[in-house]
Amino acid sequence: MPRSPIRAPKPSLDLSGHLLIFRSPIESPQAGDPDPVPETLTSESLFQNQLPLEIEVGSGKGLFLTSESARNPDHNYLGIEIIHKYAKHSAARLARAGRTNAKMVSGNAEPLFSNHVPAGSLEAVHVYFPDPWWKKRHRKRRVVNQRSIQNFLTALRPGGRFHFWTDVLDYFESTIELIAEIAPEFGVPIPEEKQLSTHDLDYRTHFERRSRKNQIPVYRVRYEKK
Ligand SMILES: C[S@@+](CC[C@H](N)C(=O)[O-])C[C@H]1O[C@@H](n2cnc3c(N)ncnc32)[C@H](O)[C@@H]1O
Repeated sequence: MPRSPIRAPKPSLDLSGHLLIFRSPIESPQAGDPDPVPETLTSESLFQNQLPLEIEVGSGKGLFLTSESARNPDHNYLGIEIIHKYAKHSAARLARAGRTNAKMVSGNAEPLFSNHVPAGSLEAVHVYFPDPWWKKRHRKRRVVNQRSIQNFLTALRPGGRFHFWTDVLDYFESTIELIAEIAPEFGVPIPEEKQLSTHDLDYRTHFERRSRKNQIPVYRVRYEKK
């Protein structure tokens, strides 16, 4: 199913408090780039406080970050989105809503987790509806893979959560098998319930909304690091 187009935020909207950029060392900075991410991603470096930090990988249009940061003002939220226009769109939602506990990074989550998130520091990692990469030869591009599972496990504090939801049964089952094999510290998967939706944006993410409206089953699970 193709993604619906998104509008660029108004140029007058100030995104400086809600959008950071992460470029690989070989990419040169461009004029007008947002501020770069700090060397170490923590609540202290991002929000100048000590609140628990939750990271969402692949935020898309930013529905989860916008609603969750309002629901839980005692936590900080960082979304990482590799497609710049989506990162900007999500940052604009946060800016318009005046959130002080949520920001977006435009960039690739994989090297950020490998090199910039301190071990044992995170309260939660969220991955919702990652791109399925259907073809077998493309599976290695999946955002939830052997390396990222190890990275998430390392980054989480004991008791920290990893939420993984998808509408792709094969992705769901193979991830559960992989976690059991390589990350036993995650323990057993805990099913997460579908919540009643009370209004048109009352879904965890846009992709959850799209799947539910099209009667597509969604597989939801959470792990808690031992
Ligand atoms: C299918 S969309 C789902 C978006 C959102 N989570 C939702 O459920 O509505 C997956 C998103 O992950 C982003 N993505 C893919 N690889 C990524 C990576 N390595 N780092 C950050 N974001 C990534 C894609 O650009 C895309 O916006």
